[in-house]
Amino acid sequence: MDGKLKGLIAYSSKTGNTKKLAETIFRELQNQCQVTLLDLKEHKIIDAENYDFILLGGWVDKAKPDKAVLKILEKIEPKNLGIFVTMGAMPDSPHGEDVKNNIKEILKKYNSLGYGICPGTVDEKVIARMKMIPDMIIPKSVKDKMVEPGNNSREATEEERIKVANEYKESVKNMEQKLLLT
Ligand SMILES: Cc1cc2nc3c(=O)[nH]c(=O)nc-3n(C[C@H](O)[C@H](O)[C@H](O)COP(=O)(O)O)c2cc1C
Repeated sequence: MDGKLKGLIAYSSKTGNTKKLAETIFRELQNQCQVTLLDLKEHKIIDAENYDFILLGGWVDKAKPDKAVLKILEKIEPKNLGIFVTMGAMPDSPHGEDVKNNIKEILKKYNSLGYGICPGTVDEKVIARMKMIPDMIIPKSVKDKMVEPGNNSREATEEERIKVANEYKESVKNMEQKLLLT
């Protein structure tokens, strides 16, 4: 192995929460390896073979990473993969536990660099749209369960974002050491 490891940080973000997390991970990893930051809105295809590892980021939709992330994973086969997300409910809530388990399940197929989860503000327009759905389509009790976490949602703090970045720094360091030994 020669030179620094090459990593790709690719993210999907509708309203900016995941973008910010991706940018923090990118900034924090820069000293350690050669990283590229990419917005999946602009790149539907990733040349996975050009990278030693990939960190894929998305926003949580129905307790899973959003479609853009899942679609990319259908197209590429990264060896070393990490997944990070932002979500409207709190990551330490029971719903957060479901999200964690879903991501862990996805990562089982790969050499996992781990997962990172941060809270993210739910866009006001999303909450307003949800409230407008007639009770006949989604019962009020179910809607309330979605609207309430949305109303209580918040942006991740810089500290929370850096914590995720630091965990990836550690995973990448471990991965590098393993590669040096082989
Ligand atoms: C269609 C839709 C579905 C969502 N589903 C969930 C969900 O299942 N669980 C959750 O905690 N947050 C959910 N959210 C909230 C987003 O995951 C959260 O606000 C995220 O931080 C947005 O990231 P972004 O700003 O990068 O787009 C949903 C948002 C949208 C628009």
